Amino acid sequence: MNISIKTQNEIGKMRIAGKLAAEVLDMITPHVLPGISTGELDSICYKYITETQKAIPANIGYNGYEKTICSSINNVICHGIPDNNKVLKNGDIVNIDVTVIKDGWYGDTSKMFLVGKCKPHNERLVRVTQECLYKAIEIVKPGICLGDIGNAIQVHAEKNYYSVVEDYCGHGIGNIYHEDPQILHFGKPGTGIEVKEGMCFTIEPMINQGSKYSKVLSDGWTVETKDGRNSAQWEHTLAVTAEGVEILTKRSEETI
Ligand code: MF3
Ligand code: CO
Ligand code: CO
Repeated sequence: MNISIKTQNEIGKMRIAGKLAAEVLDMITPHVLPGISTGELDSICYKYITETQKAIPANIGYNGYEKTICSSINNVICHGIPDNNKVLKNGDIVNIDVTVIKDGWYGDTSKMFLVGKCKPHNERLVRVTQECLYKAIEIVKPGICLGDIGNAIQVHAEKNYYSVVEDYCGHGIGNIYHEDPQILHFGKPGTGIEVKEGMCFTIEPMINQGSKYSKVLSDGWTVETKDGRNSAQWEHTLAVTAEGVEILTKRSEETI
């Protein structure tokens, strides 16, 4: 394992990339309505990142992926591929995940959207999953262990009768998209490596209404729940500070 510790100067560049990624989600929010396709949402994000932000959409070309965003609807856990034929309908829940590169540094973030009027059970899933992310972020500071982060998420998810997806995880991030360490969204307190000042990583819990098991579709990307029930995810990029943590991808709507 090779965990890089970022300098203040490097964190400064990640702060810029993180803010841009957050601003993509702010920008796209009023567009996420019944009747729009995920392909159209992708095009809007592409144009905004390349033309307005003068930044690079990190997903394009990543392991052969061809789109700017991942758009994961209902029973899709993550890596849903935007498509002009996938039209959002009233009652859907959808995750939009975007990563931008600015000046060589990465910002990676995602949020859930309630499309039109959603069922209470879906609203609850979306809310509790965001609470899982926030509870994890709140404990991050030098000296804790990665197992403490996973445990905070797992305890809150299971208390609400949900399961934690184990097949995908958060990751170190910097001038490389996915670097060490892996950030598991489950675990035991006091286990795993120690968190240190200057570490930068994402936390991005995927929480299922039913069982934790996932499957990858034949397109090689789309990850769905095995049981067909819904899944939610929220993601932030973080920098560990001397006192605690800075959320590099915090959006204007967030009060955490
Ligand atoms: N943004 C995702 C993550 O949180 C990775 C997407 S890879 C892609 O790590 F190729 F599917 F876009
Ligand atoms: Co990520
Ligand atoms: Co992401």
